[in-house]
Amino acid sequence: MTAPLRVGLAGLGTVGAAVAKLLRERRDLLAARCGRPIELAAVSARDRGKDRGVSLDGVEWVDDAADLADGGVDVAVEAIGGEDGPALALARRALDRGVDTVTANKALIARHGTDLARRAEASGAGLGFEAAVAGGIPIIKALREGLAAARPRRVYGILNGTCNYILTDMREAGRSFDAALARAQALGYAEADPAFDVDGIDAAHKLAILASLAFGTRADFDAVHVEGIRGLAPEDIAHAEELGYRIKLLGMAERRADGLVQRVHPCMVPRAAPIAAVEGVLNAVVCDAGEAGTTVYEGPGAGAGPTAAAVAADIVDAARGRRGPAFSIPADALEAAPAAPPGRRRGAWYVRLSVADRPGVIAEVAARLRDRSVSIEALVQRARGAGPVPVVMTTHETDEASMRAALADIAALGAVAAPPRSIRIETL
Ligand code: NAP
Ligand code: HSE
Repeated sequence: MTAPLRVGLAGLGTVGAAVAKLLRERRDLLAARCGRPIELAAVSARDRGKDRGVSLDGVEWVDDAADLADGGVDVAVEAIGGEDGPALALARRALDRGVDTVTANKALIARHGTDLARRAEASGAGLGFEAAVAGGIPIIKALREGLAAARPRRVYGILNGTCNYILTDMREAGRSFDAALARAQALGYAEADPAFDVDGIDAAHKLAILASLAFGTRADFDAVHVEGIRGLAPEDIAHAEELGYRIKLLGMAERRADGLVQRVHPCMVPRAAPIAAVEGVLNAVVCDAGEAGTTVYEGPGAGAGPTAAAVAADIVDAARGRRGPAFSIPADALEAAPAAPPGRRRGAWYVRLSVADRPGVIAEVAARLRDRSVSIEALVQRARGAGPVPVVMTTHETDEASMRAALADIAALGAVAAPPRSIRIETL
């Protein structure tokens, strides 16, 4: 009998506990698929006394997660979270010692992926992060292996399950933002600090990783333009529906002649677009790969089961001895691509204003748009009253810089009671 693959698991929360359960429940299947048993040899978490819903009898407990790298394990699995601290310490130590390393941590990979890949290459260890992007969708393998001969031009999608769940729940159940977020947290979708989800940071981490794999560039999280969903109001969601759109938080990366575009922000997408139908915790990734065509991947983007399955797939790779450059090409060959100049996007916009209901106000707004060469497609005042009233408009295609300047001009008008709410319209 071939010797078991010994796994050290750091973190026993939503993801880690589910990995421990999966390794136990699928023991025979995994042994058959790997040609050797997989054994959970050691674990680490903060609270040794906490019930994890899975028996850890016979499994060694390690107080300092980084020590897992020294305990004779074949694979170190990091499911702690955080871009630095114990997660980084464990990954570095394991890779430097030649221990295959698997992580679900997108913050870690978006920040330190190139360095960790370099360490893996130096020691001959494998570095797997399938669970770090789009939960249960095997998008890392799709880009690294299935599309190994393709030259993607654009990769985009719904990359955060929590935000997609919140937007769906607000629209379908009429729940408030806070109530929908609380449900996403209870279901195990959200990050330990949900600000990472709702402020778009988690999606930006994932986008930086996808861009690196798709374009052969170094993951550059700092170059991602990030806006989250926190400011969205129920009325924006309702107006989107009336206008034939649906609001989604999208991450979009594109390789252009003037550099790399990476942006994460809420978008209105046509209700008939396939991505509009991706609801709840589901994620979707679209890869436009030129001559290789456009491929679409959809599945659960967060949660214990799908994420544990993705972690286990990387463990299986380790058991089979499948190792290769973490980002498809050697770390030193990853290009440091410049970011494209901001403000070059061309596209239409939705704008919601809160304005005084008196003669001449719409003319003042229209004049500010005219002065920046922004053309109105449709404009409607949604109520009448003594106080500020909502005005909703859509524009024709315009460049981002002009629209931003127009919005700043409009915000400065005395008749405008609150900062304008604006959402880009993406026809994809
Ligand atoms: P979580 O439920 O908050 O679990 C974190 C775990 O890390 C806990 O078990 C905690 O221990 C442990 N931990 C914290 N500090 C530690 C330390 N210094 N040493 C050892 N263990 C420590 O988080 P999660 O949702 O499982 O997420 C874990 C990672 O997976 C994150 O990188 C996250 O982004 C990623 N991820 C999550 C999902 C998801 O759907 N939740 C999906 C994909 C990827 P205690 O339990 O003792 O406090
Ligand atoms: N918090 C993340 C999300 C977990 O909601 O998408 C999956 O990466």
